Amino acid sequence: MTLSTPRQLEGKVALITGASSGIGRAAAIVLAQRGARIVAAARRQSELDDVVAEITAQGGIASSIVVDVTREADIIAMVQFAVDTYGQLDIAFNNAGTEGVFAPLIEQDNARFDLVFEPNVRGVFNCMKYEAKVMLEQGFGSIINNASMGGVIGFENAALYIGTKHAVVGMTKTASIEWFKHGVRVNALCPGLIETPFHHRGIWPSVEAQQAFAASTPASRFGTAEEMATVVAFLGSEDASYVSGHALLADGGYSVA
Ligand SMILES: NC(=O)c1ccc[n+]([C@@H]2O[C@H](COP(=O)([O-])OP(=O)(O)OC[C@H]3O[C@@H](n4cnc5c(N)ncnc54)[C@H](OP(=O)(O)O)[C@@H]3O)[C@@H](O)[C@H]2O)c1
Repeated sequence: MTLSTPRQLEGKVALITGASSGIGRAAAIVLAQRGARIVAAARRQSELDDVVAEITAQGGIASSIVVDVTREADIIAMVQFAVDTYGQLDIAFNNAGTEGVFAPLIEQDNARFDLVFEPNVRGVFNCMKYEAKVMLEQGFGSIINNASMGGVIGFENAALYIGTKHAVVGMTKTASIEWFKHGVRVNALCPGLIETPFHHRGIWPSVEAQQAFAASTPASRFGTAEEMATVVAFLGSEDASYVSGHALLADGGYSVA
């Protein structure tokens, strides 16, 4: 067994959705720093260009593709692009997602349901399916789905978002049972409160409420996107070769407090 090195992902190809911002952007940079060749995917080309430029400036290798994960055809093209560009697919981080609209369940409606379930559940489902077709054929691969600590516990006013993240954890566990025996591991990352643009789009009633929530975690703070990226690097690496079907909480200890 070889121990992890700073270049623990040397030779691997990593596909990352939602790589234009926040956790996905940090994952693209950290995985590239550890040796992976990156395919960065999201809807905003200019932000993807910035990520690719940053990786390239650091001596890494990256390409980008514009993708809307609510469109199955985009996902098929994205996976094909990764294989065409680099010849294989070792790691897929299905991270793209939205918080939708936070409100009491009784005030939610079908339009808001679709707004959050389309990218967070159908998008992850289709990403997993088409990535796995490549990985099962290869006989190896690691899929990491970005769920949330809200994939294992509930939150007031967030029934739709929480529902999507429980669905992601459920699909992760089931796919792991189906695919690990064929060499493909599947895990979920379950972040707690992470400092990204996600938190500046109105999910908090006030700045004070946001700060109080962060202070109530045992870590007494938000996590950083880089702290999520290093967990993704671990799950994607051979260091996690016996880890599959796991919902890995990286939440500053919040969910057990
Ligand atoms: N921040 C937190 O506290 C936290 C906690 C738990 C879980 N998470 C999860 O972490 C993931 C990333 O969130 P973040 O905090 O990094 O927020 P973020 O900075 O807003 O990033 C969201 C990313 O998803 C992409 N995206 C959204 N809809 C998409 C679509 N239809 N097709 C393709 N890409 C799409 C966005 O890119 P474009 O707009 O360019 O498409 C962006 O890159 C989400 O799944 C979120 O639920 C976040």
